[in-house]
Amino acid sequence: MHSLLSRGNAIVAYTLSLLACLTFLCFLSTLFVDYRTIAAINTVKVVVKSVPDYSAAREECDLGFITFDLQANLTNLFNWNVKQLFLYLTAEYSTANNALSQVVLWDKIILRGEKAILDFKNMNTKYYFWDDGSGLRGHQNITLTLAWNIIPNAGLLPSIVARGQHSFAFPSNYTVTRV
Ligand SMILES: *[C@@H]1O[C@H](CO)[C@@H](O)[C@H](O)[C@H]1NC(C)=O
Ligand SMILES: *[C@@H]1O[C@H](CO)[C@@H](O)[C@H](O)[C@H]1NC(C)=O
Repeated sequence: MHSLLSRGNAIVAYTLSLLACLTFLCFLSTLFVDYRTIAAINTVKVVVKSVPDYSAAREECDLGFITFDLQANLTNLFNWNVKQLFLYLTAEYSTANNALSQVVLWDKIILRGEKAILDFKNMNTKYYFWDDGSGLRGHQNITLTLAWNIIPNAGLLPSIVARGQHSFAFPSNYTVTRV
């Protein structure tokens, strides 16, 4: 005869393994989904200033100011295993000092059920575009890319880079007026 305790124990164990199994199936069902999609990125205003850097030994550093357009339809990325998306816009470039610099300029969280169609015009960046020297002025190839982390209900946390990037150049003269 089973005691009440061992019966309770069996039910708990059964429920737990069932849940683990369902979670695994949930994870499997979305393992091979292609989370890449197209993002259209464009720069509107591009300016570079030379600004005193009080935090470092160097006296002046380049600070870039850009505004950008961004369009993407991320509706398709939301399946039942996607809890939220963490989007971020990165600028990538190389200089004599650094083989590869990556600067996050903007980010956004889209929760499940929120509007997943981005249509931004002339947006300001959220974060400063500092270089650690004078690498921005006259730079001919700064590449902007949109990427996202998928926060799932179960499983991996993939980081995806959107198709479509935008390259631009900084002017060869510093702007001295306020922007
Ligand atoms: C966004 O994508 C969804 C799914 O593919 C589609 O139904 C919808 O019409 C698209 N919206 C726009 C504005 O392109
Ligand atoms: C611009 O930089 C990107 C990566 O930062 C690189 O893939 C691309 O080839 C470069 N383009 C030119 C014209 O140098």
